[in-house]
Amino acid sequence: MVFSLTESPNTDLSQVRLTIRNLQPQLVQWRRYLHQHPEIGFQEYLTTEFVSRQLQEWGIKHETGIAKTGIVATIEGTQPGPVIAIRADLDALPIQEQNQVEYRSLHDGFMHACGHDGHTAIALGTAYYLSHYREKIRGTVKILFQPAEEGPGGAKPMIEAGVLTNPKVEAIIGLHLWNRLPLGTVGVRSGALMAAVECFRCTILGKGGHGAMPEQTVDSVLVSAQIVTALQTIVARNINPLDSAVVTVGELHAGKALNVIADTAHFSGTVRYFDPQYQGYIQQRVEEIIRGICQAHNAKYELDYWHLYPPVINDPGITSLVQSVATQVVETPAGVVPDCQTMGGEDMSFFLQEVPGCYFFLGSANPAKDLAYPHHHPRFDFDETALAMGVEIFVRCVEKFSQQA
Ligand code: NI
Repeated sequence: MVFSLTESPNTDLSQVRLTIRNLQPQLVQWRRYLHQHPEIGFQEYLTTEFVSRQLQEWGIKHETGIAKTGIVATIEGTQPGPVIAIRADLDALPIQEQNQVEYRSLHDGFMHACGHDGHTAIALGTAYYLSHYREKIRGTVKILFQPAEEGPGGAKPMIEAGVLTNPKVEAIIGLHLWNRLPLGTVGVRSGALMAAVECFRCTILGKGGHGAMPEQTVDSVLVSAQIVTALQTIVARNINPLDSAVVTVGELHAGKALNVIADTAHFSGTVRYFDPQYQGYIQQRVEEIIRGICQAHNAKYELDYWHLYPPVINDPGITSLVQSVATQVVETPAGVVPDCQTMGGEDMSFFLQEVPGCYFFLGSANPAKDLAYPHHHPRFDFDETALAMGVEIFVRCVEKFSQQA
């Protein structure tokens, strides 16, 4: 579709804002189309087709099929300057939507329950705006539409495909619509914003037998129970109390009858922490505890432990740029929540390991409109007013960064 950006004769501040506010109906339309057509990681074919069609219509140079279903759009300013990247994620979740809205998911069993439909719409709006104001950009803006943020992760394969090079990206920004913050706020901080994510699966191999004759068995249930309890001592006794970490066992399965001692038990869990110094250390403690307790009870174990995403760590310089832009956009310093942190994880972290940047939360909850369900909930939805705010923050960050560099 083609529509016109209305120019305003007012100051630059109002001009940017009014122009972007005029985009709001299109942002809502794009977001709702995407919301109706959710696709999970590395299967975002309709989604990328939609994004690509828009970019093509606006004459924006872009490459598709990167890391299977990723897209990189490149917008060159009229003057030479730095290269900044904006990152959005395309994927949805295997959740059956329970919202009764007219734009509810048309794909049974799948839903944009995390707001990535909004991220893609915001990135599209930013691309649209910037491509119409190339004279305002010094340098180049790359917009990275990545697949599979919800897992197994599309950021890493995008980096391996070279999206941060040629031209070399010097700074990167990204946002997550955030229902833990009200509409009209931005949560951002320098340093760790989101936690590292590690996962494990363990099988305890005991010896089954009669529930009344335990002396002939190795009870996998008892061994697992001790391990699950002892794993909590990692956070309580191995981590510096001034740091934050979580060890959660989310699954525990064993046994089939009340009078039979189970020969095997399975449990699995996730580990979170902010400080990269704990990478490897918590894994080591998990294995030591499992090994030690199994040894004490003559059981065996199989452990599978993997590192999903590193912590999301923001660069101080780019963060203060985002903070000052956000203050301008939300129009009140109190609207910028300074020490926002969550133990949730994000593969934006891989980009931030390569390039200085900033990831931030854009408040999107509006309880008065019943738009405050948590992310990944079957009734998750957000206040679409946040879409234009997201575009404005991105656009102003690009302008400010290219002026500073
Ligand atoms: Ni998400």
